[in-house]
Amino acid sequence: MSIKNDLFLRALKGETVERPPVWMMRQAGRYLPEFMEIREKYDFFTRCRTPELASEITVQPIRRYGMDAAILFSDILVIPQAMNIEVQMKPNFGPFLPNPVRTQADVDRVIVPDVSVELDYVYEAIKATKELLNNEIPLIGFAGSPWTILCYCVQGQGSKTFDKAKAFCFTNPVAAHEMLQKITDTTIEYLKQKIEAGVDAVQVFDSWGGMLSPTDYQEFSWQYINQIIEALKDYAPVIAFGKGCWFALEDMAKSNAAALGIDWTCAPNVARQLTGGNITLQGNFDPVRLLSQPSDIKKMVHQMINEFGKDKYIVNLGHGILPNIPVENAKAFIDAVKEYKA
Ligand code: CP3
Repeated sequence: MSIKNDLFLRALKGETVERPPVWMMRQAGRYLPEFMEIREKYDFFTRCRTPELASEITVQPIRRYGMDAAILFSDILVIPQAMNIEVQMKPNFGPFLPNPVRTQADVDRVIVPDVSVELDYVYEAIKATKELLNNEIPLIGFAGSPWTILCYCVQGQGSKTFDKAKAFCFTNPVAAHEMLQKITDTTIEYLKQKIEAGVDAVQVFDSWGGMLSPTDYQEFSWQYINQIIEALKDYAPVIAFGKGCWFALEDMAKSNAAALGIDWTCAPNVARQLTGGNITLQGNFDPVRLLSQPSDIKKMVHQMINEFGKDKYIVNLGHGILPNIPVENAKAFIDAVKEYKA
């Protein structure tokens, strides 16, 4: 069955569109009152593991705002969980991994799991979501980049510097590369099965790529993301989002990614220049700018579209939406795109 609103998939192919498609990173989240209602009743991983809950949460923002794509409610940390690493989501704290990976012996204990068994609940959630979406809009699946997953596995929690994760890579590169390869192999199989279950595109989130120097980024992050892109490119379009990774855009544009995510610290014309003008770009509204007046948000969104150009472009934030964004401000962001006239 073909999808009724295919703006997002056409933009990923680089086709000419009436207006650019729009969705928001972390669009299913704590700024939505209907999300908070479900959050009161079920803990985080119960929400991820119950297909009826995950699919309902996925379509909540679509019902309210009518974005051009949905992104499956889940988390990047289901991958280390499946690899035999305990992951907790602590309220008012975030991810916590009580037994972080810090030595070669720790890496040896990490498994490359049979994801068809360990993560079957994700594929069930995808099927349930596809039913609810009724072929109206495409569904995006995602994974963290191997580097970003390693950051949590080694650091054991969020961090401003991820110093322990970086130190592990710099002092024990053999073990680090082994770990990164295990994550990469697991992620490729996981995303293949997500595509088989029904997602129409996948995004790789390299949320902490910008913590690395350009040289270290090539060694510890980009080569593994590129393996994922190469393994998946014939199955579904891949979007690579590297937060703070403007320095790598020129190389990323030479890959077989269908699109590249841009954050707000890189101006649209600079992003176009670095990427050569041919690849689809996605982004890059400062998430905190959603605290501006709705009328200002609309003006800035129109300006952003004019700067990126309406084609080969997907409107999005430069990172995830924050919990303190008023619902009417998020609406102004989406409406501005739908009201856009070239
Ligand atoms: O975009 C969507 O709406 C889909 C859902 C989604 C979640 N996590 C749900 C979630 C996606 C795409 C993610 C990805 C994710 N998870 C990333 C990469 C994207 C990014 O923002 O950089 C990262 C780094 C994580 C790890 C993670 N999960 C953190 C750091 C946290 C805690 C921070 C916070 O916002 O509280 C989570 C928890 C999490 N994942 C929440 C949601 C809605 C909030 C916790 C809750 O609902 O109880």
